[in-house]
Amino acid sequence: MSDGDDKEPTGPAGAPLLRVRDVHRRFGSGTATVHALRGVSFDVAAGTMVALVGRSGSGKTTLLNVVGGLDRPDAGSLHVDGTDVTALDEDGLSRLRRGRVAYVFQTFGLIPVLSAAENVGAPLRLARLPSAERERRVELLLELVGLADHARQRPAELSGGQQQRVAIARALAASPRLLIADEPTGQLDAETGLSVMALLRGVVESEGVTALVSTHDPVMMALADRVIRISDGRVDG
Ligand SMILES: Nc1ncnc2c1ncn2[C@@H]1O[C@H](COP(=O)(O)OP(=O)(O)O)[C@@H](O)[C@H]1O
Ligand SMILES: [Mg+2]
Repeated sequence: MSDGDDKEPTGPAGAPLLRVRDVHRRFGSGTATVHALRGVSFDVAAGTMVALVGRSGSGKTTLLNVVGGLDRPDAGSLHVDGTDVTALDEDGLSRLRRGRVAYVFQTFGLIPVLSAAENVGAPLRLARLPSAERERRVELLLELVGLADHARQRPAELSGGQQQRVAIARALAASPRLLIADEPTGQLDAETGLSVMALLRGVVESEGVTALVSTHDPVMMALADRVIRISDGRVDG
């Protein structure tokens, strides 16, 4: 069993980066049971950007959470980069989340007391990267997201779009294989949202990452290589 912390691709060449098979997730019990995922199956090819689209309550967040190892499915199988995620114990899941999978949230999730640079560098500090290397990587990442001049500012001193750019830089810090973004432009105005989406599209190319992004935004769908529709806990492939 893979322990989830090795960032080398472990899947066979040409295998999908993400393989989801007949995944179920239920919340609650008895008559209050909500069947949030009802047998979801799909593959995502490495190096592609996929938009996950569906109405509020359709199961997008639940699906992204089980894919990213933040939650466990009740049934079905999930392979990320060749690793069977359902076979990982808690340590394995947290290594997966620190290494091969990264998250971007609608509400950015930055640490308020840290500067932009410190937020981006936090995962590298956790990974015990030597500080000189860490600083170089942080500088590169802030440049990549167009915020080289804002390194010292705290989240509250940045606009929403800038905060989301910092969150994207932080997500990329540990060179993940899979980037999961749950409605990353949901809190942004249309124009800012578009520039954040264009950035995501760009990093899929430049960083060779695979992205799974939930969205309501038609522009995002147009930027994606593929759209997966989810409705009432089911996808149409
Ligand atoms: N922790 C939870 N407890 C109970 N029900 C939940 C929980 N999380 C999600 N649900 C339910 O599962 C369904 C799918 O929710 P969600 O995945 O958040 O949808 P979306 O992200 O598409 O809006 C909804 O009916 C929601 O109320
Ligand atoms: Mg949601």
